[in-house]
Amino acid sequence: MSVKKIAILFSGSGSNMEAIIRKVHGKKAGKNRIEVALLICNKKDAYGIERAKNLGFETMIIEHSKYASRDGFDSELVRAIKAANIDLVVLAGFMRVLGTNFCDNVKAINLHPSILPLFKGAHAIKESFESDMQVGGITVHWVSSELDGGKIIAQKTFARKNRTFKQWEEKIHKLEHKLLPKTIISLLKD
Ligand code: GAR
Repeated sequence: MSVKKIAILFSGSGSNMEAIIRKVHGKKAGKNRIEVALLICNKKDAYGIERAKNLGFETMIIEHSKYASRDGFDSELVRAIKAANIDLVVLAGFMRVLGTNFCDNVKAINLHPSILPLFKGAHAIKESFESDMQVGGITVHWVSSELDGGKIIAQKTFARKNRTFKQWEEKIHKLEHKLLPKTIISLLKD
């Protein structure tokens, strides 16, 4: 059995990071065992840091605001990820655009709260809710240097019904907390 190490990058509430720790850490993927080996947050006051602590995990804080350029921030992320011997990086609510320096050096997946390629960017939940689409959904995709544009790995959709915005958002998070852990396990089976 070999150990597959993952890193989780987050920026805020960290509910997806928590779902990954609960559903993936220490679990088997085929003949492998998965270890959440690194947590990185780019905001020092993010609630997710507290969540992680409550689960017994320390978070490395790398604040984007302390770097003069995107490239400098990206390089520091890559350095920390390489130093921890990570097999797969998971962006779970990580709200920074990453440049080629990151994308060319790290194997990473991203969670996005819409049916890509629709509603790219930081306001996908609101924009999808406010559209006239009768379905909403979520996507897990490979990270590439095109924002929210890498190859799609998994998607889940749901019918609008007459959900309020709050219910729409809750439905998205509920699906995310299932689909992302499941996708990580299936990617690490090899
Ligand atoms: C999630 O809904 C995730 O899909 C979204 O941020 C939220 C983070 O929630 N990501 C993006 O919008 C990326 N463009 P969490 O911090 O509770 O996991």
